[in-house]
Amino acid sequence: MALWGGRFRDPVERSAWQLNASLSFDQRLAEQDVRGSQAWANALTRIGLLTPEENDQIQTALRAILEEFQQGRFQFQPSDEDIHTAVERRLTERIGETAGKLHTGRSRNDQVATDFRLWVLAAIERVSNVLRDVQAVLVERAERDGTLVLPGYTHLQRAQPILLSHWWLAHFWPLQRDRERLLDLRKRTALLPLGSGALAGAPFPIDRQALAAELGFEAPCANSIDGVSDRDFAAEFLFCASLIGLHLSRLCESLVIFTSAEFGFFTLADAYSTGSSLMPQKKNPDLFELGRAKAGKLVGLLTGWLTTLKGLPSTYDKDLQEDKPPVFAAYDTLMELLPALGGALATLQVNQEKLAAALDPALFATDLADYLVEKGVPFRQAHEWVGRAVRVAEELGLSLDRLPLEAYRAITPLFEPDLYAVFDSLRSVSRRRAEGGTAPEAVQRQLERAKALLTAEL
Ligand code: ARG
Repeated sequence: MALWGGRFRDPVERSAWQLNASLSFDQRLAEQDVRGSQAWANALTRIGLLTPEENDQIQTALRAILEEFQQGRFQFQPSDEDIHTAVERRLTERIGETAGKLHTGRSRNDQVATDFRLWVLAAIERVSNVLRDVQAVLVERAERDGTLVLPGYTHLQRAQPILLSHWWLAHFWPLQRDRERLLDLRKRTALLPLGSGALAGAPFPIDRQALAAELGFEAPCANSIDGVSDRDFAAEFLFCASLIGLHLSRLCESLVIFTSAEFGFFTLADAYSTGSSLMPQKKNPDLFELGRAKAGKLVGLLTGWLTTLKGLPSTYDKDLQEDKPPVFAAYDTLMELLPALGGALATLQVNQEKLAAALDPALFATDLADYLVEKGVPFRQAHEWVGRAVRVAEELGLSLDRLPLEAYRAITPLFEPDLYAVFDSLRSVSRRRAEGGTAPEAVQRQLERAKALLTAEL
């Protein structure tokens, strides 16, 4: 039985029922729905709308229903339109008429918004935890890969030498911001809609502060109209998920490139790679490719939801029912992706000789310009002279470290035999010891900060 049969003469058409029903997805809110109902029954009891005996009956039955859900014994009926209908139907089966008192002063509009916020609050904690696990892997890699040096790239062209640990940590900070952003969303999600009724507010003097406290919300929402229609938290959750996806995608894309034979910086562990059904030699970085792809999916979920909201007039509209599938999908995507990526990152093998071989002497061109700067040459001039050296070396088919001293001195006599000392990767990175730079000591300080954040209360 639907909850709203009274005013209708004809039964609902099957296809219309199908389209309208949301049980297929909102059954994920079962626990939250029961908890919300338990708190609501207590609130009604506090103002005398339920007797303590009726409340006891309701609470006991709701506890039993929760157990049915938890043990997978709950039987849905074809007539259950959504999770709220299913719970109320089951309550009626268990305690009869008294069940009909539970919905006093409440609407499914404030009910579903409450359930969903409870669900998102729990999801925020879980995503934050797996995100932190991936951050911990990055920190652990940064520690393990210590002072290994590789070329840093801009425009995907070799730019300057950097510490591999610095590169790992470059992926730690975006995830830290993601985690802080996600956890910040708690305070906007923990506002209680229950007690807003359908839109105008509850017609009985419900103590919404007590209700909020009982359900773990920070406060009741300030406006009942806003309360039933605010789905910003869903949009924000999807945005947080999208940005996590984008950050992971960037890391994944780099690793697809770095694990290719052309780079060969890393080798994937067998446990985190896949083969080809046709080419026996293939070892593919599917996981990283999927990491890249999931970002597209997450952005799509966000875009879809924002577009749905775009068309709505104020208060509750049925369109809002469509908030749940994208949020569930984003959550599932991250909960599947993050642990797999964490494992793949932790088990990547570094090929030190490939890193070393990629340290082209041209990477030290900036250091060569800085060498002149230390002799008092304005940087612009130094840049120009070193640029000339690069051109001459290219014309002679030589690398910068093989270009003879005379060729350098023909550009400027400020070049002296000690110029060749710049072609040393550890020297190059060690010079960048200003805070946030790639020098071992600066990276060590960065690492300490990162480690502290792993255990910090956010
Ligand atoms: N299943 C609905 C949803 O998820 C519950 C609220 C229905 N409200 C209504 N007035 N029909 O939004």
